[in-house]
Amino acid sequence: MQNSPKRFTITAALPYTNGPVHIGHLAGVYVPADIYSRFQRIQGNDVAFVCGSDEHGVPITIKAKKEGITPQQVVDKYHAIIKQSFQDFGITFDNYSRTTAKIHHDTASEFFKKLYEDGKFIEQTTEQFYDKEANQFLADRFILGTCPKCGFEESYGDQCESCGTSHNATDLINPKSSITGNTPSLKETKHWFLPLDQYEPWLKEWIVKGHKKDWKANVYGQCKSWIDDGLRPRAVTRDLDWGIPVPVEGADGKVLYVWFDAPIGYISATKEWAEKEGKDWEPYWKDENTKLLHFIGKDNIVFHCIIFPSMLKAEGSYIVPNNVPANEFLNLEGNKISTSKNWAVWLHEYLIDFPNQQDVLRYTLTANAPETKDNDFTWSDFQARNNNELVAIFGNFINRVVVLTNKYYEGIIPEPASLSEVDIATLTQLKAYPSVIESSIERYRFREAQAELMNVARLGNKYLADEEPWKKIKMDEERTKTIMFVSLQIASALAVLCEPFLPFTSSKLKNMLCLNEEQNNEESLQWKDVSTKETLIPSGHKIGKGELLFSKIEDEQVQQQLDKLEATKKANKVMNANPEPKKETIQFDDFTKLDMRVGTILEAEKMAKTKKLLILKVDTGIDIRTIVSGISESFSPEEVIGKKVTVLVNLAPRALRGVESEGMILMTETPEGKLVFLNPDEEAVINGATIS
Ligand code: MF3
Ligand code: ZN
Repeated sequence: MQNSPKRFTITAALPYTNGPVHIGHLAGVYVPADIYSRFQRIQGNDVAFVCGSDEHGVPITIKAKKEGITPQQVVDKYHAIIKQSFQDFGITFDNYSRTTAKIHHDTASEFFKKLYEDGKFIEQTTEQFYDKEANQFLADRFILGTCPKCGFEESYGDQCESCGTSHNATDLINPKSSITGNTPSLKETKHWFLPLDQYEPWLKEWIVKGHKKDWKANVYGQCKSWIDDGLRPRAVTRDLDWGIPVPVEGADGKVLYVWFDAPIGYISATKEWAEKEGKDWEPYWKDENTKLLHFIGKDNIVFHCIIFPSMLKAEGSYIVPNNVPANEFLNLEGNKISTSKNWAVWLHEYLIDFPNQQDVLRYTLTANAPETKDNDFTWSDFQARNNNELVAIFGNFINRVVVLTNKYYEGIIPEPASLSEVDIATLTQLKAYPSVIESSIERYRFREAQAELMNVARLGNKYLADEEPWKKIKMDEERTKTIMFVSLQIASALAVLCEPFLPFTSSKLKNMLCLNEEQNNEESLQWKDVSTKETLIPSGHKIGKGELLFSKIEDEQVQQQLDKLEATKKANKVMNANPEPKKETIQFDDFTKLDMRVGTILEAEKMAKTKKLLILKVDTGIDIRTIVSGISESFSPEEVIGKKVTVLVNLAPRALRGVESEGMILMTETPEGKLVFLNPDEEAVINGATIS
């Protein structure tokens, strides 16, 4: 193994437990964190990869109110779903904990108490927003208003989702309670503040002057801008009834701010894991040689780079992160992913529609990872990546190698003759890949790393296509043996190198090649063997039968997903349909001026060169008249002939594109914008009947 294993504490943002996890979570945080963790373990390093459910905070209580259940019921439900999804997608947390766990309450309370006793907080009574009708203080997401920095009108009290700025609720312009919609009043309340301003010189030294230029540009840039703007004390307690009680005298009805307790969850999760494993947790958080890494999304940068490090610094005995590889956001089919709008691909639902195809999603999300800018997930790209890359390149190579080996040699790897120049060149290229992939992973460039992995499969495909063993077998059996031997070396390398990215595929492939699966087994094939060993899979070794690694995704499957999204869009429109405000009051006489009659459409034709207009002949019971109506996008002429309608018959005539329209047909529309006639629901009503 490696000479000196390094210790890594790798954290992935604790997901809020107010909904299941979706592809945005996976792409932004959990897949990259998993690739990195798997890779470090493969290198023989000592890894604690921890995560857990973030179960406090206002979003949970809002969800509980909406569903009419308790916050604990909300988190129990989603904790189970989230935990299962991570397991299903092969995210190899060493521990997935939760912030309602006792060990976390204890750890967070102790952490607070230590800072309190060391005099690290400012205790201050200030005016906070209060909703008199709801009878409660309005913390964080209970308040909405205009962001003082970017002008976004629906910023939360503690953070603006549009520009990412974190602020105090009282900074908001035009604040509104998200519970009642009322403008809140101010009420005095005591809280504990972490004086971030006191940590400013240290943060500057550490991030700006320090070596943090190797952080991703988006992360460094955000940090620098916050520090340059000047930091202010931040309240770390809240007036709420859901959370960890503030563990000091005179703090009844107050809990820790969720962003104070949640990151401490990384520590509690490590402790819980260490206890189970019979290890000491402290080196993972306190030894200067440990590399502490936080994988997060960009909206979490300030908390992980400024606030949490300041907390750790204030405590005094902890290390601070070595890097915070934050990703940008993933959109879905052009729109922002949103839990509340159900605009997402939920992981548990994906697995129902694409059973056992976790690696396809992992692959697509990494190939499109929002590493340096926001990116878009589309189902057609998903299909193309699967069909043109996983199936056509990776799967095709493996399939040919395994099938031919079985066909020619009954699965027994042949003895090679002497290697040709091409063989040597190919094997030399192969040996270079581990360090190429390694270097990309070490720089958190997972897209690039995975693209290099695919180049290994391309190398194999090219070799096969050039050497054509299926032709040579008829002329030169010895040469064919060598070609197959070389191809099998590439296949074995792929099995090892794909493990961080495509763990299910790796295990399937190792199985197919009958390679020993266990990572730390001395006899099993190791990552570094690919560059150092002459032979990865020896002659005489028997491999298994072929089995397809990937299968084609059909157009219908893609269409089904698009239909599902279309249905979501429609449902949202219905849900958000806001009736127009009432018009000014009129008198009865005003109403009786309108002469409305039941009529029947007798003829209909499209008006030439227009998109919307139909020319109708309508029997109003009084006369037969022409009415031009803008309904052509909702109805074909054939559809409306014979329809009973309501007509305003005394409207002054008006020429539309040269055709005189004598009256108006009364309509309404569905939330999707389809027009609907207002007609009597009684067949017996005859043309000319008045409406009153
Ligand atoms: N729950 C937060 C979110 O989803 C992330 C919390 S990360 C932690 O944005 F550091 F606080 F744990
Ligand atoms: Zn903003």
